[in-house]
Amino acid sequence: MIKIAILASGSGSNAENIAQYFSTHKNVKITYILSNKKDAFVLERAKKLGIKSKVFSNKEMKEQVDLLNLLKVEADFIILAGFLLKVPENIIKAFPDKIINIHPALLPNYGGKGMYGMHVHRAVKENNEKETGITIHYVNENYDEGAIIFQASTALTSEDTAEDIAAKIHLLEQEHFPKVIDGVINK
Ligand code: GAR
Repeated sequence: MIKIAILASGSGSNAENIAQYFSTHKNVKITYILSNKKDAFVLERAKKLGIKSKVFSNKEMKEQVDLLNLLKVEADFIILAGFLLKVPENIIKAFPDKIINIHPALLPNYGGKGMYGMHVHRAVKENNEKETGITIHYVNENYDEGAIIFQASTALTSEDTAEDIAAKIHLLEQEHFPKVIDGVINK
C-alpha cells in the first residue's frame, strides 16, 4: 500500500480531485488531509470524502516534531495541493524526492515568495502573457525551485481576466495532477 498525505491551505479542489482519482486504486491510500488553516474548505471536503484530517498551527509547523512523526507513520509521499507555508527542512530531509507541489504558473516564471493563487494570475495578466500553465515539481528547501516533473501550458487572449486565467489553470490541474502523481509514486 502506498500512503499519501495531502497538505492544503485553501479550497482543496485539487485535494478532492486527487482523492477521487485514487479512490479506485487499491494500492494507494490518501491517509490524511493536513491543513494549517482551521477554517479551510479543504477540511469540509475531507469530511465528505471520509478522509482523516488534522489542523496544525504555523508554530507547530515550525516545531514540526509532531507533524514529522505523523508523516513518518502515515505517508510515503506528501502532496502539496495549494499549501501556502514553507515545508520545514526536517520534513524535506526525511522525504527526499517524496514531496510534490503544484504551482499555477510555468516556473521559473511567477514563482517565489508571495506568488500563489490569484497573485500569480494577476501578475500574468498584468504582463500580458500569451500563455501560462502549471508546474508539478519536487519540493526542496527553496520556494518553487525543486526539480520539475511536468509542465502543461494554456494559451491566453488579451480578453482573459485574472479569473479566466484561474479557470484555465484549474482545468489543467484537474486533468494532470492526479495522473502525474500516479506516475511518480508507481515509478
Ligand atoms: C491551486 O491553483 C494551486 O496550484 C495553487 O493554489 C491553488 C489551490 O487551489 N498553489 C500555489 O499557488 C502554490 N504556490 P485548491 O485549494 O482549490 O486546490
